[in-house]
Amino acid sequence: MNEHADATSVSNDASNEPTDETEWELIRQHEEPLLSVENLHVRFDTEEGAVQAVDGVSLEIQAGEIVGLVGESGCGKSVTSLSLMDLVESPGTIQEGSIQFKGDELLEMSDEEIRSVRGDEISMVFQEPSSALNPVFDVGWQVGEPLRVHRGLSESASRQRAVELMTRVGIPSPEERVDDYPHQFSGGMKQRAMISMALANEPDLLIADEPTTALDVTIEAQILDLIEELNEEIGMAVLLITHDLGVVAEICDRVAVMYAGRIVEYGDVEDIFLDPRHPYTKGLVSCVPDPTTSEKDLKPIEGQVPDLANTPDGCNFAPRCPYATKECTVDDPRLRDVADDHFSACLWEDPQ
Ligand SMILES: Nc1ncnc2c1ncn2[C@@H]1O[C@H](COP(=O)(O)OP(=O)(O)OP(=O)(O)O)[C@@H](O)[C@H]1O
Ligand code: SF4
Ligand SMILES: [Mg+2]
Repeated sequence: MNEHADATSVSNDASNEPTDETEWELIRQHEEPLLSVENLHVRFDTEEGAVQAVDGVSLEIQAGEIVGLVGESGCGKSVTSLSLMDLVESPGTIQEGSIQFKGDELLEMSDEEIRSVRGDEISMVFQEPSSALNPVFDVGWQVGEPLRVHRGLSESASRQRAVELMTRVGIPSPEERVDDYPHQFSGGMKQRAMISMALANEPDLLIADEPTTALDVTIEAQILDLIEELNEEIGMAVLLITHDLGVVAEICDRVAVMYAGRIVEYGDVEDIFLDPRHPYTKGLVSCVPDPTTSEKDLKPIEGQVPDLANTPDGCNFAPRCPYATKECTVDDPRLRDVADDHFSACLWEDPQ
């Protein structure tokens, strides 16, 4: 504990009024959201114990909205996004929760039903492009696959369209590269091929897990422009998972901040950057390089994300939190509203 570790240094200490609303009821803004995730729990049963990778996540994405999902490594961002496509693999299981897309429960769909949604209405750019491209098929075949499967395009029409899509994501000489196999592509090229495949059917929702991490800044800007263009032109909603708060500030409408398997803050992008309420978000925002300061002045958040097989009592962030009080090691804070459409899972409304 440091000099802040005392209840008197925390404002609004009586404001954590209990509410009967669940987190999902609280954050719900729209009667018919495009995607509604309610109280999602995902656990991995490993030899080291049960890893609660996703611990009661609720999220809502409206048609045409770009929502950022941010948080440090190991917070559960990828597992959350894989759950949305029902792609969590053993030893992981979705224990409870609901994922509704256009009002239909994805978790109750048959394999055939979910396959008809995947790659068409919802598509995903995976964090690991190598694992998502099949080494035995050429890239053009794979980029055109969603068009053949969901839109009935012929092989030659899908190949032609693959060339157009590859052009759009900045793959040079696409007429030649369309016949290449994944091993002939660099990591960045594979990432671009994955993105072109995900955008092939102009999905209603794109889930993009660190889509530009492996790319240089020029291509990154090009891909983000393309995502924004499709967002504006066809109203494609996006769940953008990233470590890069600069990217979030540039293109997201709303932001969900994730820590240790939970959403700890959720709100409009301006509110998250200008008025962060959760100490973890405050820490992340203070790590964003400011053009007026040098990188060495940045203060990374000290400490580590807790082991998700063994989280601390009380608030998961307490061991790292500069504002932690005794209550924080006992009470388990859940999201509550701290301003209009702005939610934070801290015991205190605005610690400072
Ligand atoms: N196959 C698996 N088996 C066991 N544990 C897993 C597995 N996949 C993920 N986990 C655990 O789930 C937790 C969340 O992982 P996840 O990949 O979602 O993190 P992340 O937020 O996407 O991190 P990063 O930013 O590094 O991509 C981690 O503790 C991780 O170790
Ligand atoms: S509830 Fe958690 S985030 Fe809020 S002050 Fe306490 S330890 Fe920090
Ligand atoms: Mg990840």
